[in-house]
Amino acid sequence: MALTSRPRGTNDIIPGEIEFWLDLEEKIRTVCRAYGYKEIRTPIFEHTELFQRGIGDATDIVEKEMYTFLDRGERSITLRPEGTAPLVRAYIENNLGSGTLPVKLFYYGPMFRYERPQAGRYRQFVQFGCEALGSSDPLLDVEAIALPLEIYRACGLSGFQVQLNSIGCPECRGAYREKLVEYFTPHTDQLCKSCQSRLQRNPMRLLDCKAEGCQRIIEGAPVITQYLCADCQDHFSGVRTYLDELLIPYELNPRLVRGFDYYTRTVFEVVSSELGSQNAIGAGGRYDGLVEEVGGKPTPAVGYAVGVDRLLLALKGQNKLEVNLEGPSAYLVHFGGATKIKAAQTAHFLRSQGLWVELDHMDRSVKAQMKAANRLKSCCVIVFGQDELAKNQVVVRNMQDGREQEVVLDDLGQLSKIVGACGK
Ligand code: HAM
Repeated sequence: MALTSRPRGTNDIIPGEIEFWLDLEEKIRTVCRAYGYKEIRTPIFEHTELFQRGIGDATDIVEKEMYTFLDRGERSITLRPEGTAPLVRAYIENNLGSGTLPVKLFYYGPMFRYERPQAGRYRQFVQFGCEALGSSDPLLDVEAIALPLEIYRACGLSGFQVQLNSIGCPECRGAYREKLVEYFTPHTDQLCKSCQSRLQRNPMRLLDCKAEGCQRIIEGAPVITQYLCADCQDHFSGVRTYLDELLIPYELNPRLVRGFDYYTRTVFEVVSSELGSQNAIGAGGRYDGLVEEVGGKPTPAVGYAVGVDRLLLALKGQNKLEVNLEGPSAYLVHFGGATKIKAAQTAHFLRSQGLWVELDHMDRSVKAQMKAANRLKSCCVIVFGQDELAKNQVVVRNMQDGREQEVVLDDLGQLSKIVGACGK
């Protein structure tokens, strides 16, 4: 393995790209502020059991995709594959539910899954997630859809679609489970190995299987929406009413199931027409049992996570990745020796005023320094010539209009004003 290659399924985000990430992060924060979601940061790793219990033992993520290791104290640790279970753990541990409900939180950061890497599917990827805990109001389910849609909209993304389903509560799922086992059992031989092993343990997981042979059988399976109890039906109809009233378009997909066991009632996914097989740019749902499962008081909750890498891929596909790449406020041209020292002192001051200032570190000729200033798109150039310095002056050249003025170095505050005004 070459030391110069990064681990499979990971990415470097280099200058020229990072600007898009930062711009998106800012948009995310602006939308979260409007919706009243506060940021929370949890550790990158957690006790493995949190995910086993929270996400579910019989899920693909827990069975095959977690980065799990024993630490030096022989504790089983897992790099977080998602942000909901850690957030719920932090909510309980920090007693965040003791104030006004609902508690609305968001997170942004790397997640880790040992998946087969391909375009849009990585082993380390970034999720933004928003979660509202403490209320079962269907309007909060709609908020968990509306908030990320606002982010997509703010980025200029088009061609995406919301898919919506309800997968009921443990009560209505009992009857549905039986129907599924009844339906799938005669097809056992045609099912893939993992579906065969899950048939009795967790038959709903079969609906999520992507194997071709299983897909054909899944097509004929009964759908959960026919088995919803009265409360779940009411809740689902509340969600649809609010979506309609807020004019949020969606498509009902009674076959939509999610890869986590914690979901109850509403589930949703947003798919982009821009991406290939990995077309989900975000997904979420209600998880009314998770807080209790993790050790807290019964607390209804709902949330959503945006796949940030995929969102940026989709935006790139639509030529929507634009940020204004600014240059420095000033490039200080010097002739080495005493002029370099004076330039360094001036840069030191201007930087302390928050101005982006560059100067030559490569012993370049004056012509090459001017070229570098141009390449960097510097707003102005300050020339530290020997003759001018003898008079304690510098020449400031505005790179936009070419105008030049002599500025006395005694008043650095005045220089900083002139430099600051150049880019305006
Ligand atoms: P998820 O569907 O597993 O849900 O992930 C959400 C989004 O993260 C996906 O739609 C996708 O855009 C992105 N994503 C997932 N895996 C990868 C990967 N390997 N590479 C790149 N992007 C990926 C959750 O994680 C739930 N915690 C969402 C949630 C929040 N439910 C309630 N609250």
